[in-house]
Amino acid sequence: MIHYKELGLVNSKELFQKALKGGYAIPAFNFNNLEQLQAIISACVETKSPVILQVSSGARKYANQTLLKHLAKGAVEYAHELGYDIPIVLHLDHGDSFELCKSCIESGFSSVMIDGSHLPYEQNVELTRKVVEYAHQFDVSVEGELGVLAGIEDDVSSEVTHYTKPEEVEDFVSKTGVDSLAISIGTSHGANKFKPEQCTRTEDGILIPPPLRFDILEEIEKRIPGFPIVLHGASSVPVELVRTINNYGGKLKDAVGIPEDQLRRAAASAVCKINIDSDGRLAMTAAIRKYLAENPAEFDPRKYLGPAREALKELYKHKIINVLGSAGKA
Ligand code: G3H
Ligand code: 13P
Ligand code: ZN
Repeated sequence: MIHYKELGLVNSKELFQKALKGGYAIPAFNFNNLEQLQAIISACVETKSPVILQVSSGARKYANQTLLKHLAKGAVEYAHELGYDIPIVLHLDHGDSFELCKSCIESGFSSVMIDGSHLPYEQNVELTRKVVEYAHQFDVSVEGELGVLAGIEDDVSSEVTHYTKPEEVEDFVSKTGVDSLAISIGTSHGANKFKPEQCTRTEDGILIPPPLRFDILEEIEKRIPGFPIVLHGASSVPVELVRTINNYGGKLKDAVGIPEDQLRRAAASAVCKINIDSDGRLAMTAAIRKYLAENPAEFDPRKYLGPAREALKELYKHKIINVLGSAGKA
């Protein structure tokens, strides 16, 4: 067992309290490789933003748990070397079992999500409470989820959105003891968050999605005032990235995300953690496709991963400064 403090990490409790009071959200960026980690840390250091490094169970398998532990420690030292010590959380994204959460806690995670959102309510409560009881012994924070997002979460996919029922949140939070709650108000995972028929289309073919259900968010805030809320599926799927990918041989069809102004509005509320993965994937893919199309004789991975890392860093800085409002809060 290695405790996260030995790696120089922090849990999310204090960060969330500050974010709630300050009207901003902490970025939760997914990673599974070196270039993503470099981009996240350098973007957060340059903007002086706290950060949550997120690892899904698929990413943990991909990157290897031992390497991840050392990467997280390295991230803390890398930030220091870049000249500014930002608070860094290592978080399990969409944990699906007690055993996985326990294993992550034992290998240095400072925060875990137990996603029982697909279970019947009482089973979700029971599983979440079990994880909280274990995690809190080590001062590890726990995120639970109520309501189901459409789209793909690891191997679990849902065709339809089930919005969070505000009448359940108080009971869930008090019975489980979670530190934060992920809710479903119309966001969704991946790059195709809505079906075209759910959207309106502008004259130049851009899809405009239905707005988030701020009425549900407000109702939830009324029932659990001052409680940290989390938004998953919060990528905006920038039109220019989708165009670049498709212009250089990609085939993304009807990709659509959450408009940034709605995320900014959410960040100013009790939403204090916003999850972004797909936009980073798009930024990397667009840069790599462009580079390889323009330099077909190149075969050194550093030549195309370098620009991809740079594009990713710019994307993260933009999110931090213009969307989440976490710049200068570290
Ligand atoms: O919520 C899902 C995240 O984007 C992680 O995706 O399971 O493909 O690593 P992944
Ligand atoms: P996106 O697919 O919108 O980036 O959401 C990521 C996420 O919620 C990770 O948990
Ligand atoms: Zn998610």
